[in-house]
Amino acid sequence: MVLTIAERLAEIGVSLLVAWPLARYLVRLNRRERWPAKVVAAGILLLGYVVVIIVGALYLPALLRVIAAIALLMIAAFLWRTHSDYGRRRGLPPGSLAPASDKLFADRDYYLKQHRKHGAVFKASPGLFHPHACVVGHSAALAFMKSNGPNLVAPTPPYNDNIPKGFLRYMNEEDHRAYHKLFQAAIPPPLVATHQAAVRDAIRGPFTHWAQNGSTAAGLPVEPVMTTMMFAVMTRLFFGITADDPRSERLRELHKEISYGDKGQYDRRLAEPALIAVERLLFDDESLPQTPSTNPKTILDGVLRDRPTATADPTVRRNLIYMLETAHRDMAGLLTWLLKLLIENRTWIQRLQEDLRSPDPPPPDSLGRTLADRIIMESLRLERSEYLYRRAAADVRIGPFTIPKGWIIRICIREGHRTNPAFDRPQQFDPDRFIDRTFDRTEYAPFGLYQRRCIGQNVAADVGRMFLEELFGNYDIAVVEDGPVQYRGGHWQPNSAFRLRLIPVC
Ligand code: HEM
Repeated sequence: MVLTIAERLAEIGVSLLVAWPLARYLVRLNRRERWPAKVVAAGILLLGYVVVIIVGALYLPALLRVIAAIALLMIAAFLWRTHSDYGRRRGLPPGSLAPASDKLFADRDYYLKQHRKHGAVFKASPGLFHPHACVVGHSAALAFMKSNGPNLVAPTPPYNDNIPKGFLRYMNEEDHRAYHKLFQAAIPPPLVATHQAAVRDAIRGPFTHWAQNGSTAAGLPVEPVMTTMMFAVMTRLFFGITADDPRSERLRELHKEISYGDKGQYDRRLAEPALIAVERLLFDDESLPQTPSTNPKTILDGVLRDRPTATADPTVRRNLIYMLETAHRDMAGLLTWLLKLLIENRTWIQRLQEDLRSPDPPPPDSLGRTLADRIIMESLRLERSEYLYRRAAADVRIGPFTIPKGWIIRICIREGHRTNPAFDRPQQFDPDRFIDRTFDRTEYAPFGLYQRRCIGQNVAADVGRMFLEELFGNYDIAVVEDGPVQYRGGHWQPNSAFRLRLIPVC
């Protein structure tokens, strides 16, 4: 009798144990995404499973025994997969496939530590599904991308489905060739310099507001200020919309509906009406130039110059809308990090202020870069170039390893920047490492490594420089509140409590 009860309890325990990682995964997913349909469905299934175990324990002991035996086998298989040597004979790289999300979301240097332990290529698994092959080292990653190009596909975010041929970054080869040319030509390198006054204006406005409202002890939260500022800068560059344009506020409201980065979740059906409204706002006949300009003032003008009927193409329209969305978020992320790094390395703020306020500022280096340029490059190197994702469309090889079809390949750009011997003391914030010195793609690649590299990198560099000049030419900053860095929306970011006070310099 005692033995039967003990056996029954052990069977219940084993049967429940196997469901534990899934339950934890769902709780975590739900915390991030708030009751998405997949969590609700999986939760109901899980509940059903628990009910079956209870029924088995009370009335159908044979059924419970079968479930427990299967669960035991699954646990054994799971433990085997967590072993670093798992799959070595099949050519898998070393590393554990135990779900690592706990460590990963708690430790910013998780991938660096795995790299030290296992070498340049290792396997890891953030959750229960989707095993990753991670590559640290730009040189190896570039060679890998070159030799496996067609078999590496960028995994698509949900908003991609709202664009007929997809977002530029995720288009198939043929479509990418056609659209890439059009958009690249519309974002020429001197774009920001040509519209310098307007861009500086869009930056100055929020600074003035910040200084008025955020010079009190409470200050203002950095990330929302950066996001609003960069939205204004990008709407100006993409569509010529200024802050006093009546479309500006409406556009900002509508972008909340189509944003992926903001909420970490995305509902295709909810986004669609907002997208239609944005299209009406941006591309209706009255707002478009009557004749395509030979001297484009905006990115939209540039597109129309080369293809006058482009806005009749929903792929063009929606690409422009999502480029505005992703570009302003990428920029806001960069600038938030930049302020965090400068606050932690205040001597660079002093140097920058001295340069900017000097009647006789130091000349740019032999490559035409100022200290502001170098600060942006160093911030990108250290923090705002996390990873590139690709999915293996077939089995692919990297060095001695084989990555199976369907696996995600994580090219660890941040870790590559922090381990490459080309960078002296690579963990240190040292903008002067870029004085008179170029680094090639195998060393420095914040804007991508191979094909599909960023077409907005000049915009990022120019807007970033103007941001620094406007800020430290006129103000000083003081921290009001901060906390540890956080993993949010798929990125490591400064704490959401990060607040700064802006102090005007007379
Ligand atoms: C901090 C600023 C930025 C960073 C760190 C950044 C980073 C990147 C990276 C890493 C890629 C390549 C992705 C891959 O290979 O999977 C990329 C692509 C792209 N970026 Fe950026 N970006 C930034 C700003 C911008 C801006 C301001 C624009 C537009 C004005 C822009 C437009 C694009 C586009 C359109 C692509 C896709 C290019 C293609 O597939 O042909 N980015 N970006």
